[in-house]
Order: sequence, then C-alpha cells, then structure tokens
Amino acid sequence: MTGESFKPNDAAFVVDPYPALAELRESAPLVWSEDFDFWLVTRHAEVLACQRDRRLGRVTGGHAAPNDLRPIKTLQTISDWTPYYDVERHSLLMLEPPEHTRIRSLVSRAFTPKRIRELRPAIEQTAETMSTSLDPSGFDLIADFAQPFSIRVIAKLLGAPLDSVDQLLAWSHAIVKMYELDPTEQQAEAAIRASGEFAEWVGELVAQRRREPTDDLITALGLAETEEGRLTLPEIVSTVILLLNAGHEATVNTMGNGMTAIVRNDSWDQVVSGAVSSEVAVEEMLRWDAPLQLFERWVLQDGFELAGQPIRAGSKLAMLFGAANRDPRVFENPYRFEVGRGDRNHITFGAGTHFCLGAPLARLELDIAVNELASRFPNLTLTSDPERVPAFVIRGYQAVNLTTET
Ligand code: HEM
Repeated sequence: MTGESFKPNDAAFVVDPYPALAELRESAPLVWSEDFDFWLVTRHAEVLACQRDRRLGRVTGGHAAPNDLRPIKTLQTISDWTPYYDVERHSLLMLEPPEHTRIRSLVSRAFTPKRIRELRPAIEQTAETMSTSLDPSGFDLIADFAQPFSIRVIAKLLGAPLDSVDQLLAWSHAIVKMYELDPTEQQAEAAIRASGEFAEWVGELVAQRRREPTDDLITALGLAETEEGRLTLPEIVSTVILLLNAGHEATVNTMGNGMTAIVRNDSWDQVVSGAVSSEVAVEEMLRWDAPLQLFERWVLQDGFELAGQPIRAGSKLAMLFGAANRDPRVFENPYRFEVGRGDRNHITFGAGTHFCLGAPLARLELDIAVNELASRFPNLTLTSDPERVPAFVIRGYQAVNLTTET
C-alpha cells in the first residue's frame, strides 16, 4: 500500500477524510506518501510512540532553521520570510529541549490545572454574556459564539486589550494557514505580513507592561527571569503570539465539529437532560473529529525504527490524529459517535514534550460552553449542512447555523 489515498488537497477528502484514513490505517501502521515525501503514521500506538520519542523533533537540528520553516517546495519564490521566521523560530512548537524546557516551564506555571480551575467563574461569565446575545431563531455557532468566546478567554488571561480581538482573529487566521501542507503564495504572503504586524503590536504591549505592570500573563512574561536570565524580547513576543493563536483556533473548531456531531447524531437530549455531563460529552467531541489532524516530526538520529521499519535520519513523519482516534485497536465501535463514551485515550492534545499546554483550559472552556448552550437552548437543529473550511490540517466548518425552532 502506498499513500495515494492521502489527498489532503482534494475537496472530497476534506469533506470526509475518514474512509481514506481507515483504509490507510488498516493497510499498515506506516505508509509512505510519495506526493508529500513523508511517512504517514496511521495507528494510535505508533502516533503515541512518535510523540514520546526524543529521537524525533519538530525541527531538524534542535533549532528552527529557515528551511524547516519553509514547509513547501513550491514557495521558494518568496524571497523574504523574515517576519514569519522571526516569530516561528522561538515558538515552543518549533523548539526542542533545552530551549523548549526553559520557556515552557515558565509559561506552564500559568496553565496548571489548579490555576485554570480558578478561572471557571470568569469563563462562565464570558460564556453567558456571549450566549445571551444569540438569536434563538438562528445563529452561527462559530462566528456568533465560539470565536468571540474563545478569543476573549485567552485575551483576558494574557491581558491583551479586548477591543483588539477582531484584529487578533485576523492575524491568527492568516498565520495558521501556514500549518497546512500546501499553502498558496498568497496565503504565505498574508502570513508573513500578519506575523510582522502582530509581532510589532505584541512588542509594544510588552514594553508598556514592563513600564506599567498589571496582573496578567503578558506582564509576567515581560518581567520573567529564568536561571539563565530574562527571556529575550523575541522569545516573549513569539510565546504571546503562540498562546493567542493556539488559545482559540482548535477550541473553536472542536466546538463546531463536536456540536455538529452531537446534533446530527441526535445526542443533544442526553446532554440537556444531564444523562451525559458536558464534561464527558467534550471528550467524544475531541475524539470524533479532531480539529488538528496532522503533525509532523523529523527523524533526528540514525538507527530509528518504527513498527519494524528502519527510517533514515532526516526523514519526515506525519502523524494522522483522525486515523489514530478511530483506531479499533483502542476504541470500541470507533466509527460510532457515542456522546457518553468519555474516553480520554484520544490523541487530540498530543503527548510527550509538546503535549498541549492549554489542554486543561481547552477542556474547561468546552465544558462551560456546552453547558451554557444546553441550559439556554434545549432544542437545537441545523438549518443547513455546514460547509468545511477547505483545509485538512486545521479541520473546521466555515459556519454552523443552528436554530432552536423545530
Ligand atoms: C481543543 C483545543 C486544543 C487542541 C485540540 C490542541 C491541540 C494541541 C496539540 C495536538 C499540540 C501538540 C502539537 C505537537 O505535538 O506538535 C498542542 C500544543 C500546544 N497548545 Fe494546544 N490545543 C488546544 C487548545 C489550546 C489552548 C486553549 C491553548 C492555550 C494557551 C493551547 C496552547 C498550546 C501550546 C502553547 C502548545 C505548544 C506546546 C509545546 O510545544 O510545548 N492549546 N495543542
């Protein structure tokens, strides 16, 4: 079996990748994709193993080099990647230990489960404010609720001014397009421009908070000292941008993908009645249709082997989360959406060094959002079939139009 059925640029694949992902997974744990020049990792055990294996990394040399950040062969036409590269090179997602450990250990103090639990009342308040403004006769769950809710939560936590959330969303959308496998030249240019503007804006905010400290994460990062000394300004700027972007994109798409699945599978009643708690429902939302479908790793050392297959140093692996989350070796009836399943073995938040720093926050936000919607809108139906954003890696809907009228 070769990876020919892996067609992330095909509209039909994007609409429903799961039959092709099942075919790939059941053919082998590791499938070579000639088109993309990487190994597809298809099964749960192997995806998990890759995430925990220190012989694999996000970048070839421990440091992000410009070539690692130019994901696409066809985009060599763009001559100046500097603003994009300047942001990405210090991103936790692009670093490996020891740089990664130094920055992550600082940031993670703000994201411990206890610190996150303390945010519950404030997040509930935000969810309530957002949901009271919804028109019960028809609203778009993405634009009218999930996006404004999630961006406000992360902006408040960081201490970013709330009147800037629309601008933050625009920058974030432009930058994350670069995580797709084949961004166009236009998308790359937009991402480069957005990175430059975003970095300048964050830089000014950090400078201002250093002059006039307030009680928020941007101030804390701005003043942070490590054993090795202060975080550098570029490191702080990259970290703030990563948190602002990662802090809402996947959460919003989990809400869209997951609520669509709940409504389509006639499972809303179970949540509304309390037969299934919102906290439990969230785990199936995360497993069923992961908002992040693919993550890459480079093989850093010779002698690496996966599922009996030796893989040369310098090769690339692409872990398929959607395939792993429906692996029958781990989940019973994986192709059935069971809102009460409550199985946390899904791979949606990753594992190992880069395990999602925001997982406790994402879980709490989703729990609160589902709970809020269930108490306000006991009847929910789709008014139209939601359309997919034309992208595979970041999987979501353009809009999810719901009504409470039957
Ligand atoms: C449902 C929502 C979310 C999902 C599915 C998700 C998923 C992920 C995954 C899979 C990774 C690992 C990437 C890799 O292995 O290369 C990751 C990393 C990360 N996530 Fe999330 N995430 C979510 C929400 C959040 C939120 C709310 C934040 C808030 C700050 C956040 C911050 C981060 C950060 C900072 C990293 C990088 C960690 C590192 O490299 O050490 N995420 N996320």
